[in-house]
Amino acid sequence: MSRKIPEEWLTLGLESSCDETSAAVLRGGREVLSNVISTQIPVHQKFGGVVPEIASRHHIVNIMPVIDEALRQAEVRLKDIDQVAVTYGPGLVGALLVGVAAAKGLAFSLGVPLIGVNHLEGHIFANFLSDKELEPPFMALVVSGGHTALVHVKDYDRFTLLGQTRDDAAGEAFDKIARVMGLPYPGGPRIDALAREGNPLAIDFPRALDEKGNYEFSFSGLKSAVLNYINSEKMKGHELAKADIAASFQHSVIEVLVTKAVEAAKAAGCGRLVLAGGVAANSGLEARLREAAQAAGLRFSYPSRLLCTDNAAMIACRGYYQALSGEYSDFYLNAVPGLGLSSRVPDDHEPEEG
Ligand code: KG4
Ligand code: ZN
Repeated sequence: MSRKIPEEWLTLGLESSCDETSAAVLRGGREVLSNVISTQIPVHQKFGGVVPEIASRHHIVNIMPVIDEALRQAEVRLKDIDQVAVTYGPGLVGALLVGVAAAKGLAFSLGVPLIGVNHLEGHIFANFLSDKELEPPFMALVVSGGHTALVHVKDYDRFTLLGQTRDDAAGEAFDKIARVMGLPYPGGPRIDALAREGNPLAIDFPRALDEKGNYEFSFSGLKSAVLNYINSEKMKGHELAKADIAASFQHSVIEVLVTKAVEAAKAAGCGRLVLAGGVAANSGLEARLREAAQAAGLRFSYPSRLLCTDNAAMIACRGYYQALSGEYSDFYLNAVPGLGLSSRVPDDHEPEEG
């Protein structure tokens, strides 16, 4: 590590876990000097979802130009970089490997530390970039394309996973339902827009595991209920009330997420609640969670739209805090496609503190 003080460390972050190739430069833990995101959404749209092999190929083509552009926008040179942070999972294996290989090559040639970052922890840390005052402890509701979880962030390197989804993630349900309704990929933002024009109480879709104190989620039953409803409407020859379906489905997802998140924050004695992951960009979720948090006396924050979905600034931020606690990777770092969120609490059975 350079002899600079941590506030001046320049962290290069790389993200390539799915369909966004991104590079960012961070000064210290929270000052974003650049955050360049090259999205492949238009490439995958015609297939209705991400095609892993095509994603890997595009990452290979994009990664170096994206890094160059991040350095240019940050007005720094490669030799100024103090450490390289990269997503090593979860995600598509071929896609992850592109970022990991690039990060290893850069760290090795520059003689600087390499930091492997869990993408889901990166989503949580996006909140530190949007809310400069935010400090642990807080409760985080993580809702991405592949994961839905409640995490008690006790400190920068101490988390307790309270519960996650038993089956589908919330984002997955958004994407699947959108696809069946003939909406283009990715479905989440399309459902969000449609829902604004529909009646959230038009159709009573189910809510799973809604008993008090249960912090696990399940969205496969809801997904099937919506798909069955759509099929039966089609069979009856009815025109689909797409806006009402979108609004009612979204309402059902939001009520479960909001109720559990607020309850978990209160039960853990946390005064703060944050939202993380791609689905955090959902306007209905953000509005409803803000309202419920306020009513419960909780301070609420969520990342700006750009920082909600996949980006390298959040990875650099997580990497910075890992470096502060001396948590570096060696050059054997490999992609771990199935990496999940787990507790990072040495004394996991200690009583919850506020
Ligand atoms: O976190 P993310 O960018 O990628 C993963 O790590 O999975 O999340 C992508 C997910 C997709 O399922 C996408 O449909 C969903 O986030 N999403 C939304 C919205 N914007 C993105 N879901 C609901 N409403 C939105 N506005
Ligand atoms: Zn993500």
